[in-house]
Amino acid sequence: MKDDHTLSFDEFDETVNPRSEHCEFDTVVEQAISRRGFLGGVLAVGGFATLGGAVLPTGVKAAVNRFAFDAVPVSTSDSISVPAGYKAEVVVRWADAMWSDSVAFDQDTRGTAKTQARTFGDNTDGMEVFMHEGRTLLTINNEYTNRSIIWGNRADAKPENDDDIEKGLLAHGVTVVEIGHDGDRWGVVIDSPFNRRITPNTEMILTGPAAGHALVKTDADPAGITTLGTWNNCGSGKTPWGTYLACEENFNGYFSAEDENHEVSAELKRYGVSASDWGYSWAKIDDRFDVAKNPNEPNRVGYVVEIDPRDANSTPKKRTALGRFKHENAECVVNNDGRLVIYMGDDERGEFLYRYVSDGVYAAGIDTDALMENGTIFAAKFHDTGAGEWLALTPETTGMTQAEICVHTRIAASKVGATTMDRPEWVTANPNSSELYCALTNNKNRGLKTNKGGDETPVGGPNPREKNKYGQIVRWTPMNDDHTSAEFKWDLYVLAGNPKVHSDDKAGSENVNLGNMFNSPDGLAFDSTGQLWIQTDGKYSNEGDFEGQGNNQMLAGDPVTGEIRRFLVGPREAEVTGLCWSGDRKTMFVGIQHPGERGNSNWPDGGNTVPRSAIIAVTRDDGGLVG
Ligand code: FEO
Ligand code: CA
Ligand code: CA
Repeated sequence: MKDDHTLSFDEFDETVNPRSEHCEFDTVVEQAISRRGFLGGVLAVGGFATLGGAVLPTGVKAAVNRFAFDAVPVSTSDSISVPAGYKAEVVVRWADAMWSDSVAFDQDTRGTAKTQARTFGDNTDGMEVFMHEGRTLLTINNEYTNRSIIWGNRADAKPENDDDIEKGLLAHGVTVVEIGHDGDRWGVVIDSPFNRRITPNTEMILTGPAAGHALVKTDADPAGITTLGTWNNCGSGKTPWGTYLACEENFNGYFSAEDENHEVSAELKRYGVSASDWGYSWAKIDDRFDVAKNPNEPNRVGYVVEIDPRDANSTPKKRTALGRFKHENAECVVNNDGRLVIYMGDDERGEFLYRYVSDGVYAAGIDTDALMENGTIFAAKFHDTGAGEWLALTPETTGMTQAEICVHTRIAASKVGATTMDRPEWVTANPNSSELYCALTNNKNRGLKTNKGGDETPVGGPNPREKNKYGQIVRWTPMNDDHTSAEFKWDLYVLAGNPKVHSDDKAGSENVNLGNMFNSPDGLAFDSTGQLWIQTDGKYSNEGDFEGQGNNQMLAGDPVTGEIRRFLVGPREAEVTGLCWSGDRKTMFVGIQHPGERGNSNWPDGGNTVPRSAIIAVTRDDGGLVG
């Protein structure tokens, strides 16, 4: 909800909370990666020094992936492009009906708080399919709203009354919706007992080390256990026991204070909380969001929230043991010894990559709460040699209590000297090996500015380019295929770039070419065959540094050969985010978020209609598998 749509969330955040310019980048040697890259020099990038100690990921056990489609050309049209022999159809849009009492979307008013409460949320993001009793339950994050869209009927696209503000609030959260296929296409099962809207007002509980701690107590909840709602849920995760993980990201932008000069604590500043919100105006209708009146309220958000989509009456649980930061997604892996390991990125410039390791082991049928409550958080440190280590965040290493570590996780990670990253987005695990991939979407501050905690952001390691505009994907393999090991080996899978306008390191790695180039990788997911899917949330100007890259897109990557091929292009001014498959893998569900965020789209309905974020179903004309 930025006033200026040309700014990213981070950029907008900086206008509210300017960062120190200090960074001794002039002492940083221009060092970088290449390191032979992997499997035959895919990453040999012109202009990069080749460092010794090249490290190949281990554990690639099986992997023959041939792309089952022809590459899709770049596009700037207001439509979805998929390969020949495939089709894409809308499954559910923002404000679509879920119950028989839902009111149909009104193009003129764009709905009310009452109609929004009983319809699909806005801006779809992370998403998972759950097969339950033969039904297909989609669980989907509704990350945020765009002022110009949700209040596009109002003067200056600003809320005119409390109902406008509440409509925006209720468009956030998570939606569980049963979908069905009628032999022709997918659609919402109206009145399914599983249909549910989880909003910023839904009661949930805090669990784990921070639950009940003084830092999370408020006047409304003196016990520090019961909290209301979740918002700005970005990526997702799925536990081995069939629950959904919604990941709270830019939670800070919703807090404000009546006194615009109100100073928040240093701990809140680290998370970007300030007296000014990002235009949502929630504090005008609920004191919870007034940080002067309720300074602990922001400590109750920024977590991973576990939701059981199989029970519409279940109480979501905020898992403080997994730490508090701007969570992107939560990739769960069951280690060889049964312990649960969860990989998580903190999507902000110069923040960290994390791992959680449970104390206990997972086995079918056990009480899984303890696995998400008792464990250790680690932050990643990358060395230029291709080695890496996980640094435990414990009272001994940080001087903080376990509860403080879980609330002020960024501060704990700074204390142990973790590597500042180029905005870690989704992490995904290769089903054919023990390797993990993480999208580092971009970072215009790399080499120039510290993060909000004052940590330097030197050029090097997996963040090899100053003022990184295009992003990269880092991957790593735990030592001995043990996800709880303190050590790992890493390399870069791809360095995005633009070979049309650059011939230096900004051209990208060798697996980037004129036919597949892209910027700002964000969503990542492996399909069951071991093919990597890459979704972008980047610049779509198609000009200057981004000439020839068109709208945001989705590509497939072969983890072994490094080949990357474009599969889908989204409509104008949209981000492609969220990816999962039907139980029979014949349908791929893809999220299309914020089409027309700058006013130049009428997708999906065309004409003069309001653009609406939506889930699409991608299928093959021959009925074959899609991943
Ligand atoms: Fe919500 Fe990091 O993207
Ligand atoms: Ca994202
Ligand atoms: Ca992004």
